[in-house]
Amino acid sequence: METTPYYFYDLDLLQETLEDIQLNTNGRNFHVHYAIKANNNHKILETIAKRGFGADCVSGWEIESAIDAGFAPSSIVFAGVGKTDAELEIALSYGIGMIHCESLEEIFVLNEMAESMNCRPKIALRLNPDVNALTHQKISTGLSENKFGLTVEEFGELVTRLDELNHVDIVGLHFHIGSQITQMSVFEELCVRIQEIVPQYEKTIGQLEYLNVGGGLGVNYDQPDEDLIADFKGYFDTFYNGLNGMNVPIHFELGRSVVAQCGSLHTKVLYVKRSAQKNFAILDAGMTELMRPALYAAIHKIEKLTATAGPHLEKDYDIVGPICESSDSFGENITLPELMRGDILTIRSCGAYAESMSLRYNGREAVGSNLRKKVATQLRTAIA
Ligand SMILES: Cc1ncc(COP(=O)(O)O)c(C=O)c1O
Repeated sequence: METTPYYFYDLDLLQETLEDIQLNTNGRNFHVHYAIKANNNHKILETIAKRGFGADCVSGWEIESAIDAGFAPSSIVFAGVGKTDAELEIALSYGIGMIHCESLEEIFVLNEMAESMNCRPKIALRLNPDVNALTHQKISTGLSENKFGLTVEEFGELVTRLDELNHVDIVGLHFHIGSQITQMSVFEELCVRIQEIVPQYEKTIGQLEYLNVGGGLGVNYDQPDEDLIADFKGYFDTFYNGLNGMNVPIHFELGRSVVAQCGSLHTKVLYVKRSAQKNFAILDAGMTELMRPALYAAIHKIEKLTATAGPHLEKDYDIVGPICESSDSFGENITLPELMRGDILTIRSCGAYAESMSLRYNGREAVGSNLRKKVATQLRTAIA
């Protein structure tokens, strides 16, 4: 057993997930760009790149990591509300496929940089469709109060200043309304808004050549084994039906649904502490390795991996990390087989937004990862 904590990735499950995405996009004018922010582990990037997916990046570092892992520059799209000049320069020098612009000022800066670098990037306008993603407030991005996308006022001004933009090609639209969306009705509503917005775009800017609907498909955190592969059929069919009649390539930027279930965080119980009201299990992994519970009150399923000797007792535990913050907790009153110092736990669905969000706070050391085939499944079977 490796030194805990570590991230454990089941590459077979990742391959099966990628296959399922391809099965549900084949034969349609659909193009999937993996959102690297969900997990930028090099082996995971390489695996996804090898299957021919594109990449969705939000920083210069992500663009370079994507290229290093084998993604073709032309398959890379670049989003972000605050791209620096240095990052724009990286995007232009690699000639990536598309830059998603989120403010009028950014478009004019890019136009100037493209002139000085003697190139002509393709850009898409990120618009805020004002659709409620019905997800956690902190991962909702498509409401008019959110900071993302061009405002209606900026779009209006852009239309009057198009003749000043001689060094960028405005070719389309980009939307992303939020993450961990589990109700297909939300994506149906996005399609309805897109159908309303596109004619306005075509009337003022020109024919739509590119449409990117973002990511956001949710996964089952409560019972991961029931849905190890997300509902890609439902998701892609929703866009196929909702955007029917639009003769334009449709791009997707899925992150969480691609990698969440193939990863888990393996961690050791350092101490078990009892009070009159509670039992605490204190782990060697904390919010520094998995920030989502502290950041979004997210719940991840926790299981005990080590076998229990003696009579099978169950107890309720508050499962907490070692970090000096009260929010460093993975859940209260979690029922588990009795825990002892040295027991190994697995925190499930940690393939997305865990390793890529890890922190060095409290002087924590970088945590390693373990990429093995099938072992996660075998471990799960062993404890069942
Ligand atoms: C612009 C953009 N695209 C794609 C994604 C990926 O979303 P998800 O991991 O929910 O699929 C995000 C996530 O925040 C995003 O901000």
